[in-house]
Order: sequence, then C-alpha cells, then structure tokens
Amino acid sequence: MIIAKTLEEFDAALKSLGKVGKLGLVPTMGALHEGHLTLIRRAVEECDAVVVSDFVNPTQFNNKDDFNTYPRTLDSDSSLLEPVGVKILLAPRVIDMYPEGAGIDTRVFDLGGLDQYGEGPRRPGHFNGMAQIVTRLFDIVKPDFAYFGEKDFQQLAIIEYFVENLRYPLTIVRCPIARGEDGLALSSRNALLTPEQRKSAPHIYEAISKAPSMVGKMSVAEVINAVTADINTNPMLETEYVEIIDARTMKPLTDWSQAGNIQLTCAVYARPVRLIDNIKLK
Ligand code: PAF
Repeated sequence: MIIAKTLEEFDAALKSLGKVGKLGLVPTMGALHEGHLTLIRRAVEECDAVVVSDFVNPTQFNNKDDFNTYPRTLDSDSSLLEPVGVKILLAPRVIDMYPEGAGIDTRVFDLGGLDQYGEGPRRPGHFNGMAQIVTRLFDIVKPDFAYFGEKDFQQLAIIEYFVENLRYPLTIVRCPIARGEDGLALSSRNALLTPEQRKSAPHIYEAISKAPSMVGKMSVAEVINAVTADINTNPMLETEYVEIIDARTMKPLTDWSQAGNIQLTCAVYARPVRLIDNIKLK
C-alpha cells in the first residue's frame, strides 16, 4: 500500500497502478474501526483497486472543540489497511484539499433542500463542508465507485443528490450500518466515550429497535415520545432529537401516510460526545 501525503504523491501512486478497471474510493476521516473496514473490504472485493482517504475535514465541523478532539490515528489506520488489500491511502495536507487557502472553500452547493432538516439546522455549514471535501476527493481520485455507510443517513442522501445533480460519472454504494455485538453503531466517536458511557451507549439501539413494531399501532408523535423517553431513562444518555422522517426528502413526518419509505433518526449525547443512529421503519 502506498501512503500519499500530497497530490503529487497521489498522482504518482495512481500512475504506478497502471490501467485500473474499476477504481473504488472509501472516504474517511481516519480513526478507522470495524465499521470502516466493512466498507473497505466490500470495496476491495468489488473493485480492481481501492483508494482510502484519511482526512479530518475542517470545513464540515461547526464546533471547534469537536474538530480539535476528533481522533487522529494515521499510523494505526495505515496498519489496519495494509492487510485488507487497499492500494493507496490518501492522507493529504489541508492545503492540497483547499487550494483557496488552508480550510477555505467558498463553494456553496445545491443540496436539494435535503440539508434543511435533521442534522442540517443543528450543525450549520456541516453538509456544505462535507460536499466541499467529497467533491474535491471525487475530482482528485476520479473513482468509478464510492462507498458510504448508512449510519450517516442524511449525508448519504445528500451525496446521492449532488452526485446526480452535478452528473459525476460514478456510482454511490450504500453500505448498511455496522454495529458492535451489543448493537452500538460503530463510530470513531465511540473511542471518546468513558468506559461507563460506552456501557450505556448500546441502549440507543435497544430503544430505537423497538420502533418498527410500533408503526401503525401508535401515532408518529407517540413513537417519538416513547423512543425519546426510553433513551433518556439511561442517566448517561440525553437525546438531542428523535425524528421520524421521509427517507427520501429527510422531512420530518407527522403521519405514517405522508411517505412510503420512513426512517427514524436520532442524535444522542453521552456528554460531550454526540452519537447518531437510525433505523428503517417502513
Ligand atoms: O462520513 C465521514 O466520515 C465524512 O463526512 C466524509 C464523508 C469522509 C467526508 O469528510
């Protein structure tokens, strides 16, 4: 595996692979865990060569502390990737990704209004910053397939939107949420939990997994209240929101008849760590 730390190194690494049939890209912010590895193994299986990017993107953090404390573990990331069969690890400098100036990108993306709900208003600028880095990665790597996890459900919908809108010639591959044996959705932020919080965190999935059987028997508001109350019974956890949304538009619903595909999404604090999760209801 070649580790490319500049765009020149990346171009040389890509050239050294010769003619590649299907090129796969798995964008990450590093701090790799089994969830990433599930995506990466799938990409390696389905593509002829795979690039993993490892870049903590400053423009998608609306909270400075979150950016500063985000785990950065390039050495252990590269040792996890080597045996999986990844060809190039792209770990660029900020200036490579933001030629307008380190961390500066004035591009504003049409996100189809999908950023108006859920995480959007709660993390102002997050999705535009994410679109800046993801499009930049697409422009640099030019993958045929790019792999993203459904844990970031709204992010995935937004990426699918701008890929189609901007006519990127690539296929987005949706990968199901990877969970620990105790049900907790795998996330780099889990590493920031105290042992006591880590023990409590699986309660989020335990609570949301009860929701699918409530559909139709209870109103949307009643399900939201029941799941919120259930999560909050754990003294280590505090819901920021539980929403039931149209899985296509991301718009919160008030009635089951308002959409054909319905998802429950939530953000929960194990302070100061913020965890997100989701589950399909219909
Ligand atoms: O999901 C993530 O880890 C990030 O948002 C991504 C897609 C790597 C862009 O920085």
